[in-house]
Amino acid sequence: MFYYYGRKKQIAKHYPAPNYDVIVEPFAGAAAYSFHSDHWKKQVILIEKDQRVAAIWEWLINEATPQTIRNLPDLKPGEKSSEFLHIIHAATKQAFKYKTIKVTPVLARNWEISKRVMSENLAKVTHWEIICADYSLAPNIEATWFIDPPYKNEPGMGYHYSSALMDYQKLAEWAKARKGEVIFCEGLYGDYLPFKPLLNLKGIAGKTSKEMIFYRSEHEQPQIEMFT
Ligand SMILES: C[S@@+](CC[C@H](N)C(=O)[O-])C[C@H]1O[C@@H](n2cnc3c(N)ncnc32)[C@H](O)[C@@H]1O
Repeated sequence: MFYYYGRKKQIAKHYPAPNYDVIVEPFAGAAAYSFHSDHWKKQVILIEKDQRVAAIWEWLINEATPQTIRNLPDLKPGEKSSEFLHIIHAATKQAFKYKTIKVTPVLARNWEISKRVMSENLAKVTHWEIICADYSLAPNIEATWFIDPPYKNEPGMGYHYSSALMDYQKLAEWAKARKGEVIFCEGLYGDYLPFKPLLNLKGIAGKTSKEMIFYRSEHEQPQIEMFT
């Protein structure tokens, strides 16, 4: 629905489709997996610890209308904004630390795209639920659990609730205890569950990064296409 550092929009299609009627994303961000394809039709429960991110979902689910979104002002390169919803469109993880940002052409373009996507797709999310809380407070219901935490050893600044604050052993135990199926995302340094390679991502300046996955299900096993 909106631009977000680390969102899974481009690679959502590589993860197994949900086998349960409920999808829980306990590290919601922009919840690209739940939004992908027709996954959004399910009952979707989002958990997000960052109040500013949860507030965007509150607004989208309970307040916004396509018209109010369309009427939001466009951004012009060079002007300043202190709106968190604008700031996260800066296409950089440093954005999470900014209180005010100078609008770049990239940010202005990303915002224009998100405004259109949000207004045209709002009806897809109005039955969703957002809980502003720590992941560990999610109810353990039988569901498709799409678990996409801040990646271990992610260098530099990032989310307000970053990898430096995560206890990954505790997270692993918690994930293994989920009812239903677990789709767990990590990067190259995920070593706390038996992660397998999912795909190589091409980044900027020819850099590639590895996307890893841990999948466990009480349902029959899906076929996961993996590239090493
Ligand atoms: C990798 S991002 C999720 C991206 C998401 N899958 C998407 O497609 O946009 C991780 C998210 O987890 C949130 N987060 C970090 N620690 C958390 C915690 N303890 N409980 C819940 N959410 C947390 C961050 O604020 C961030 O939004």
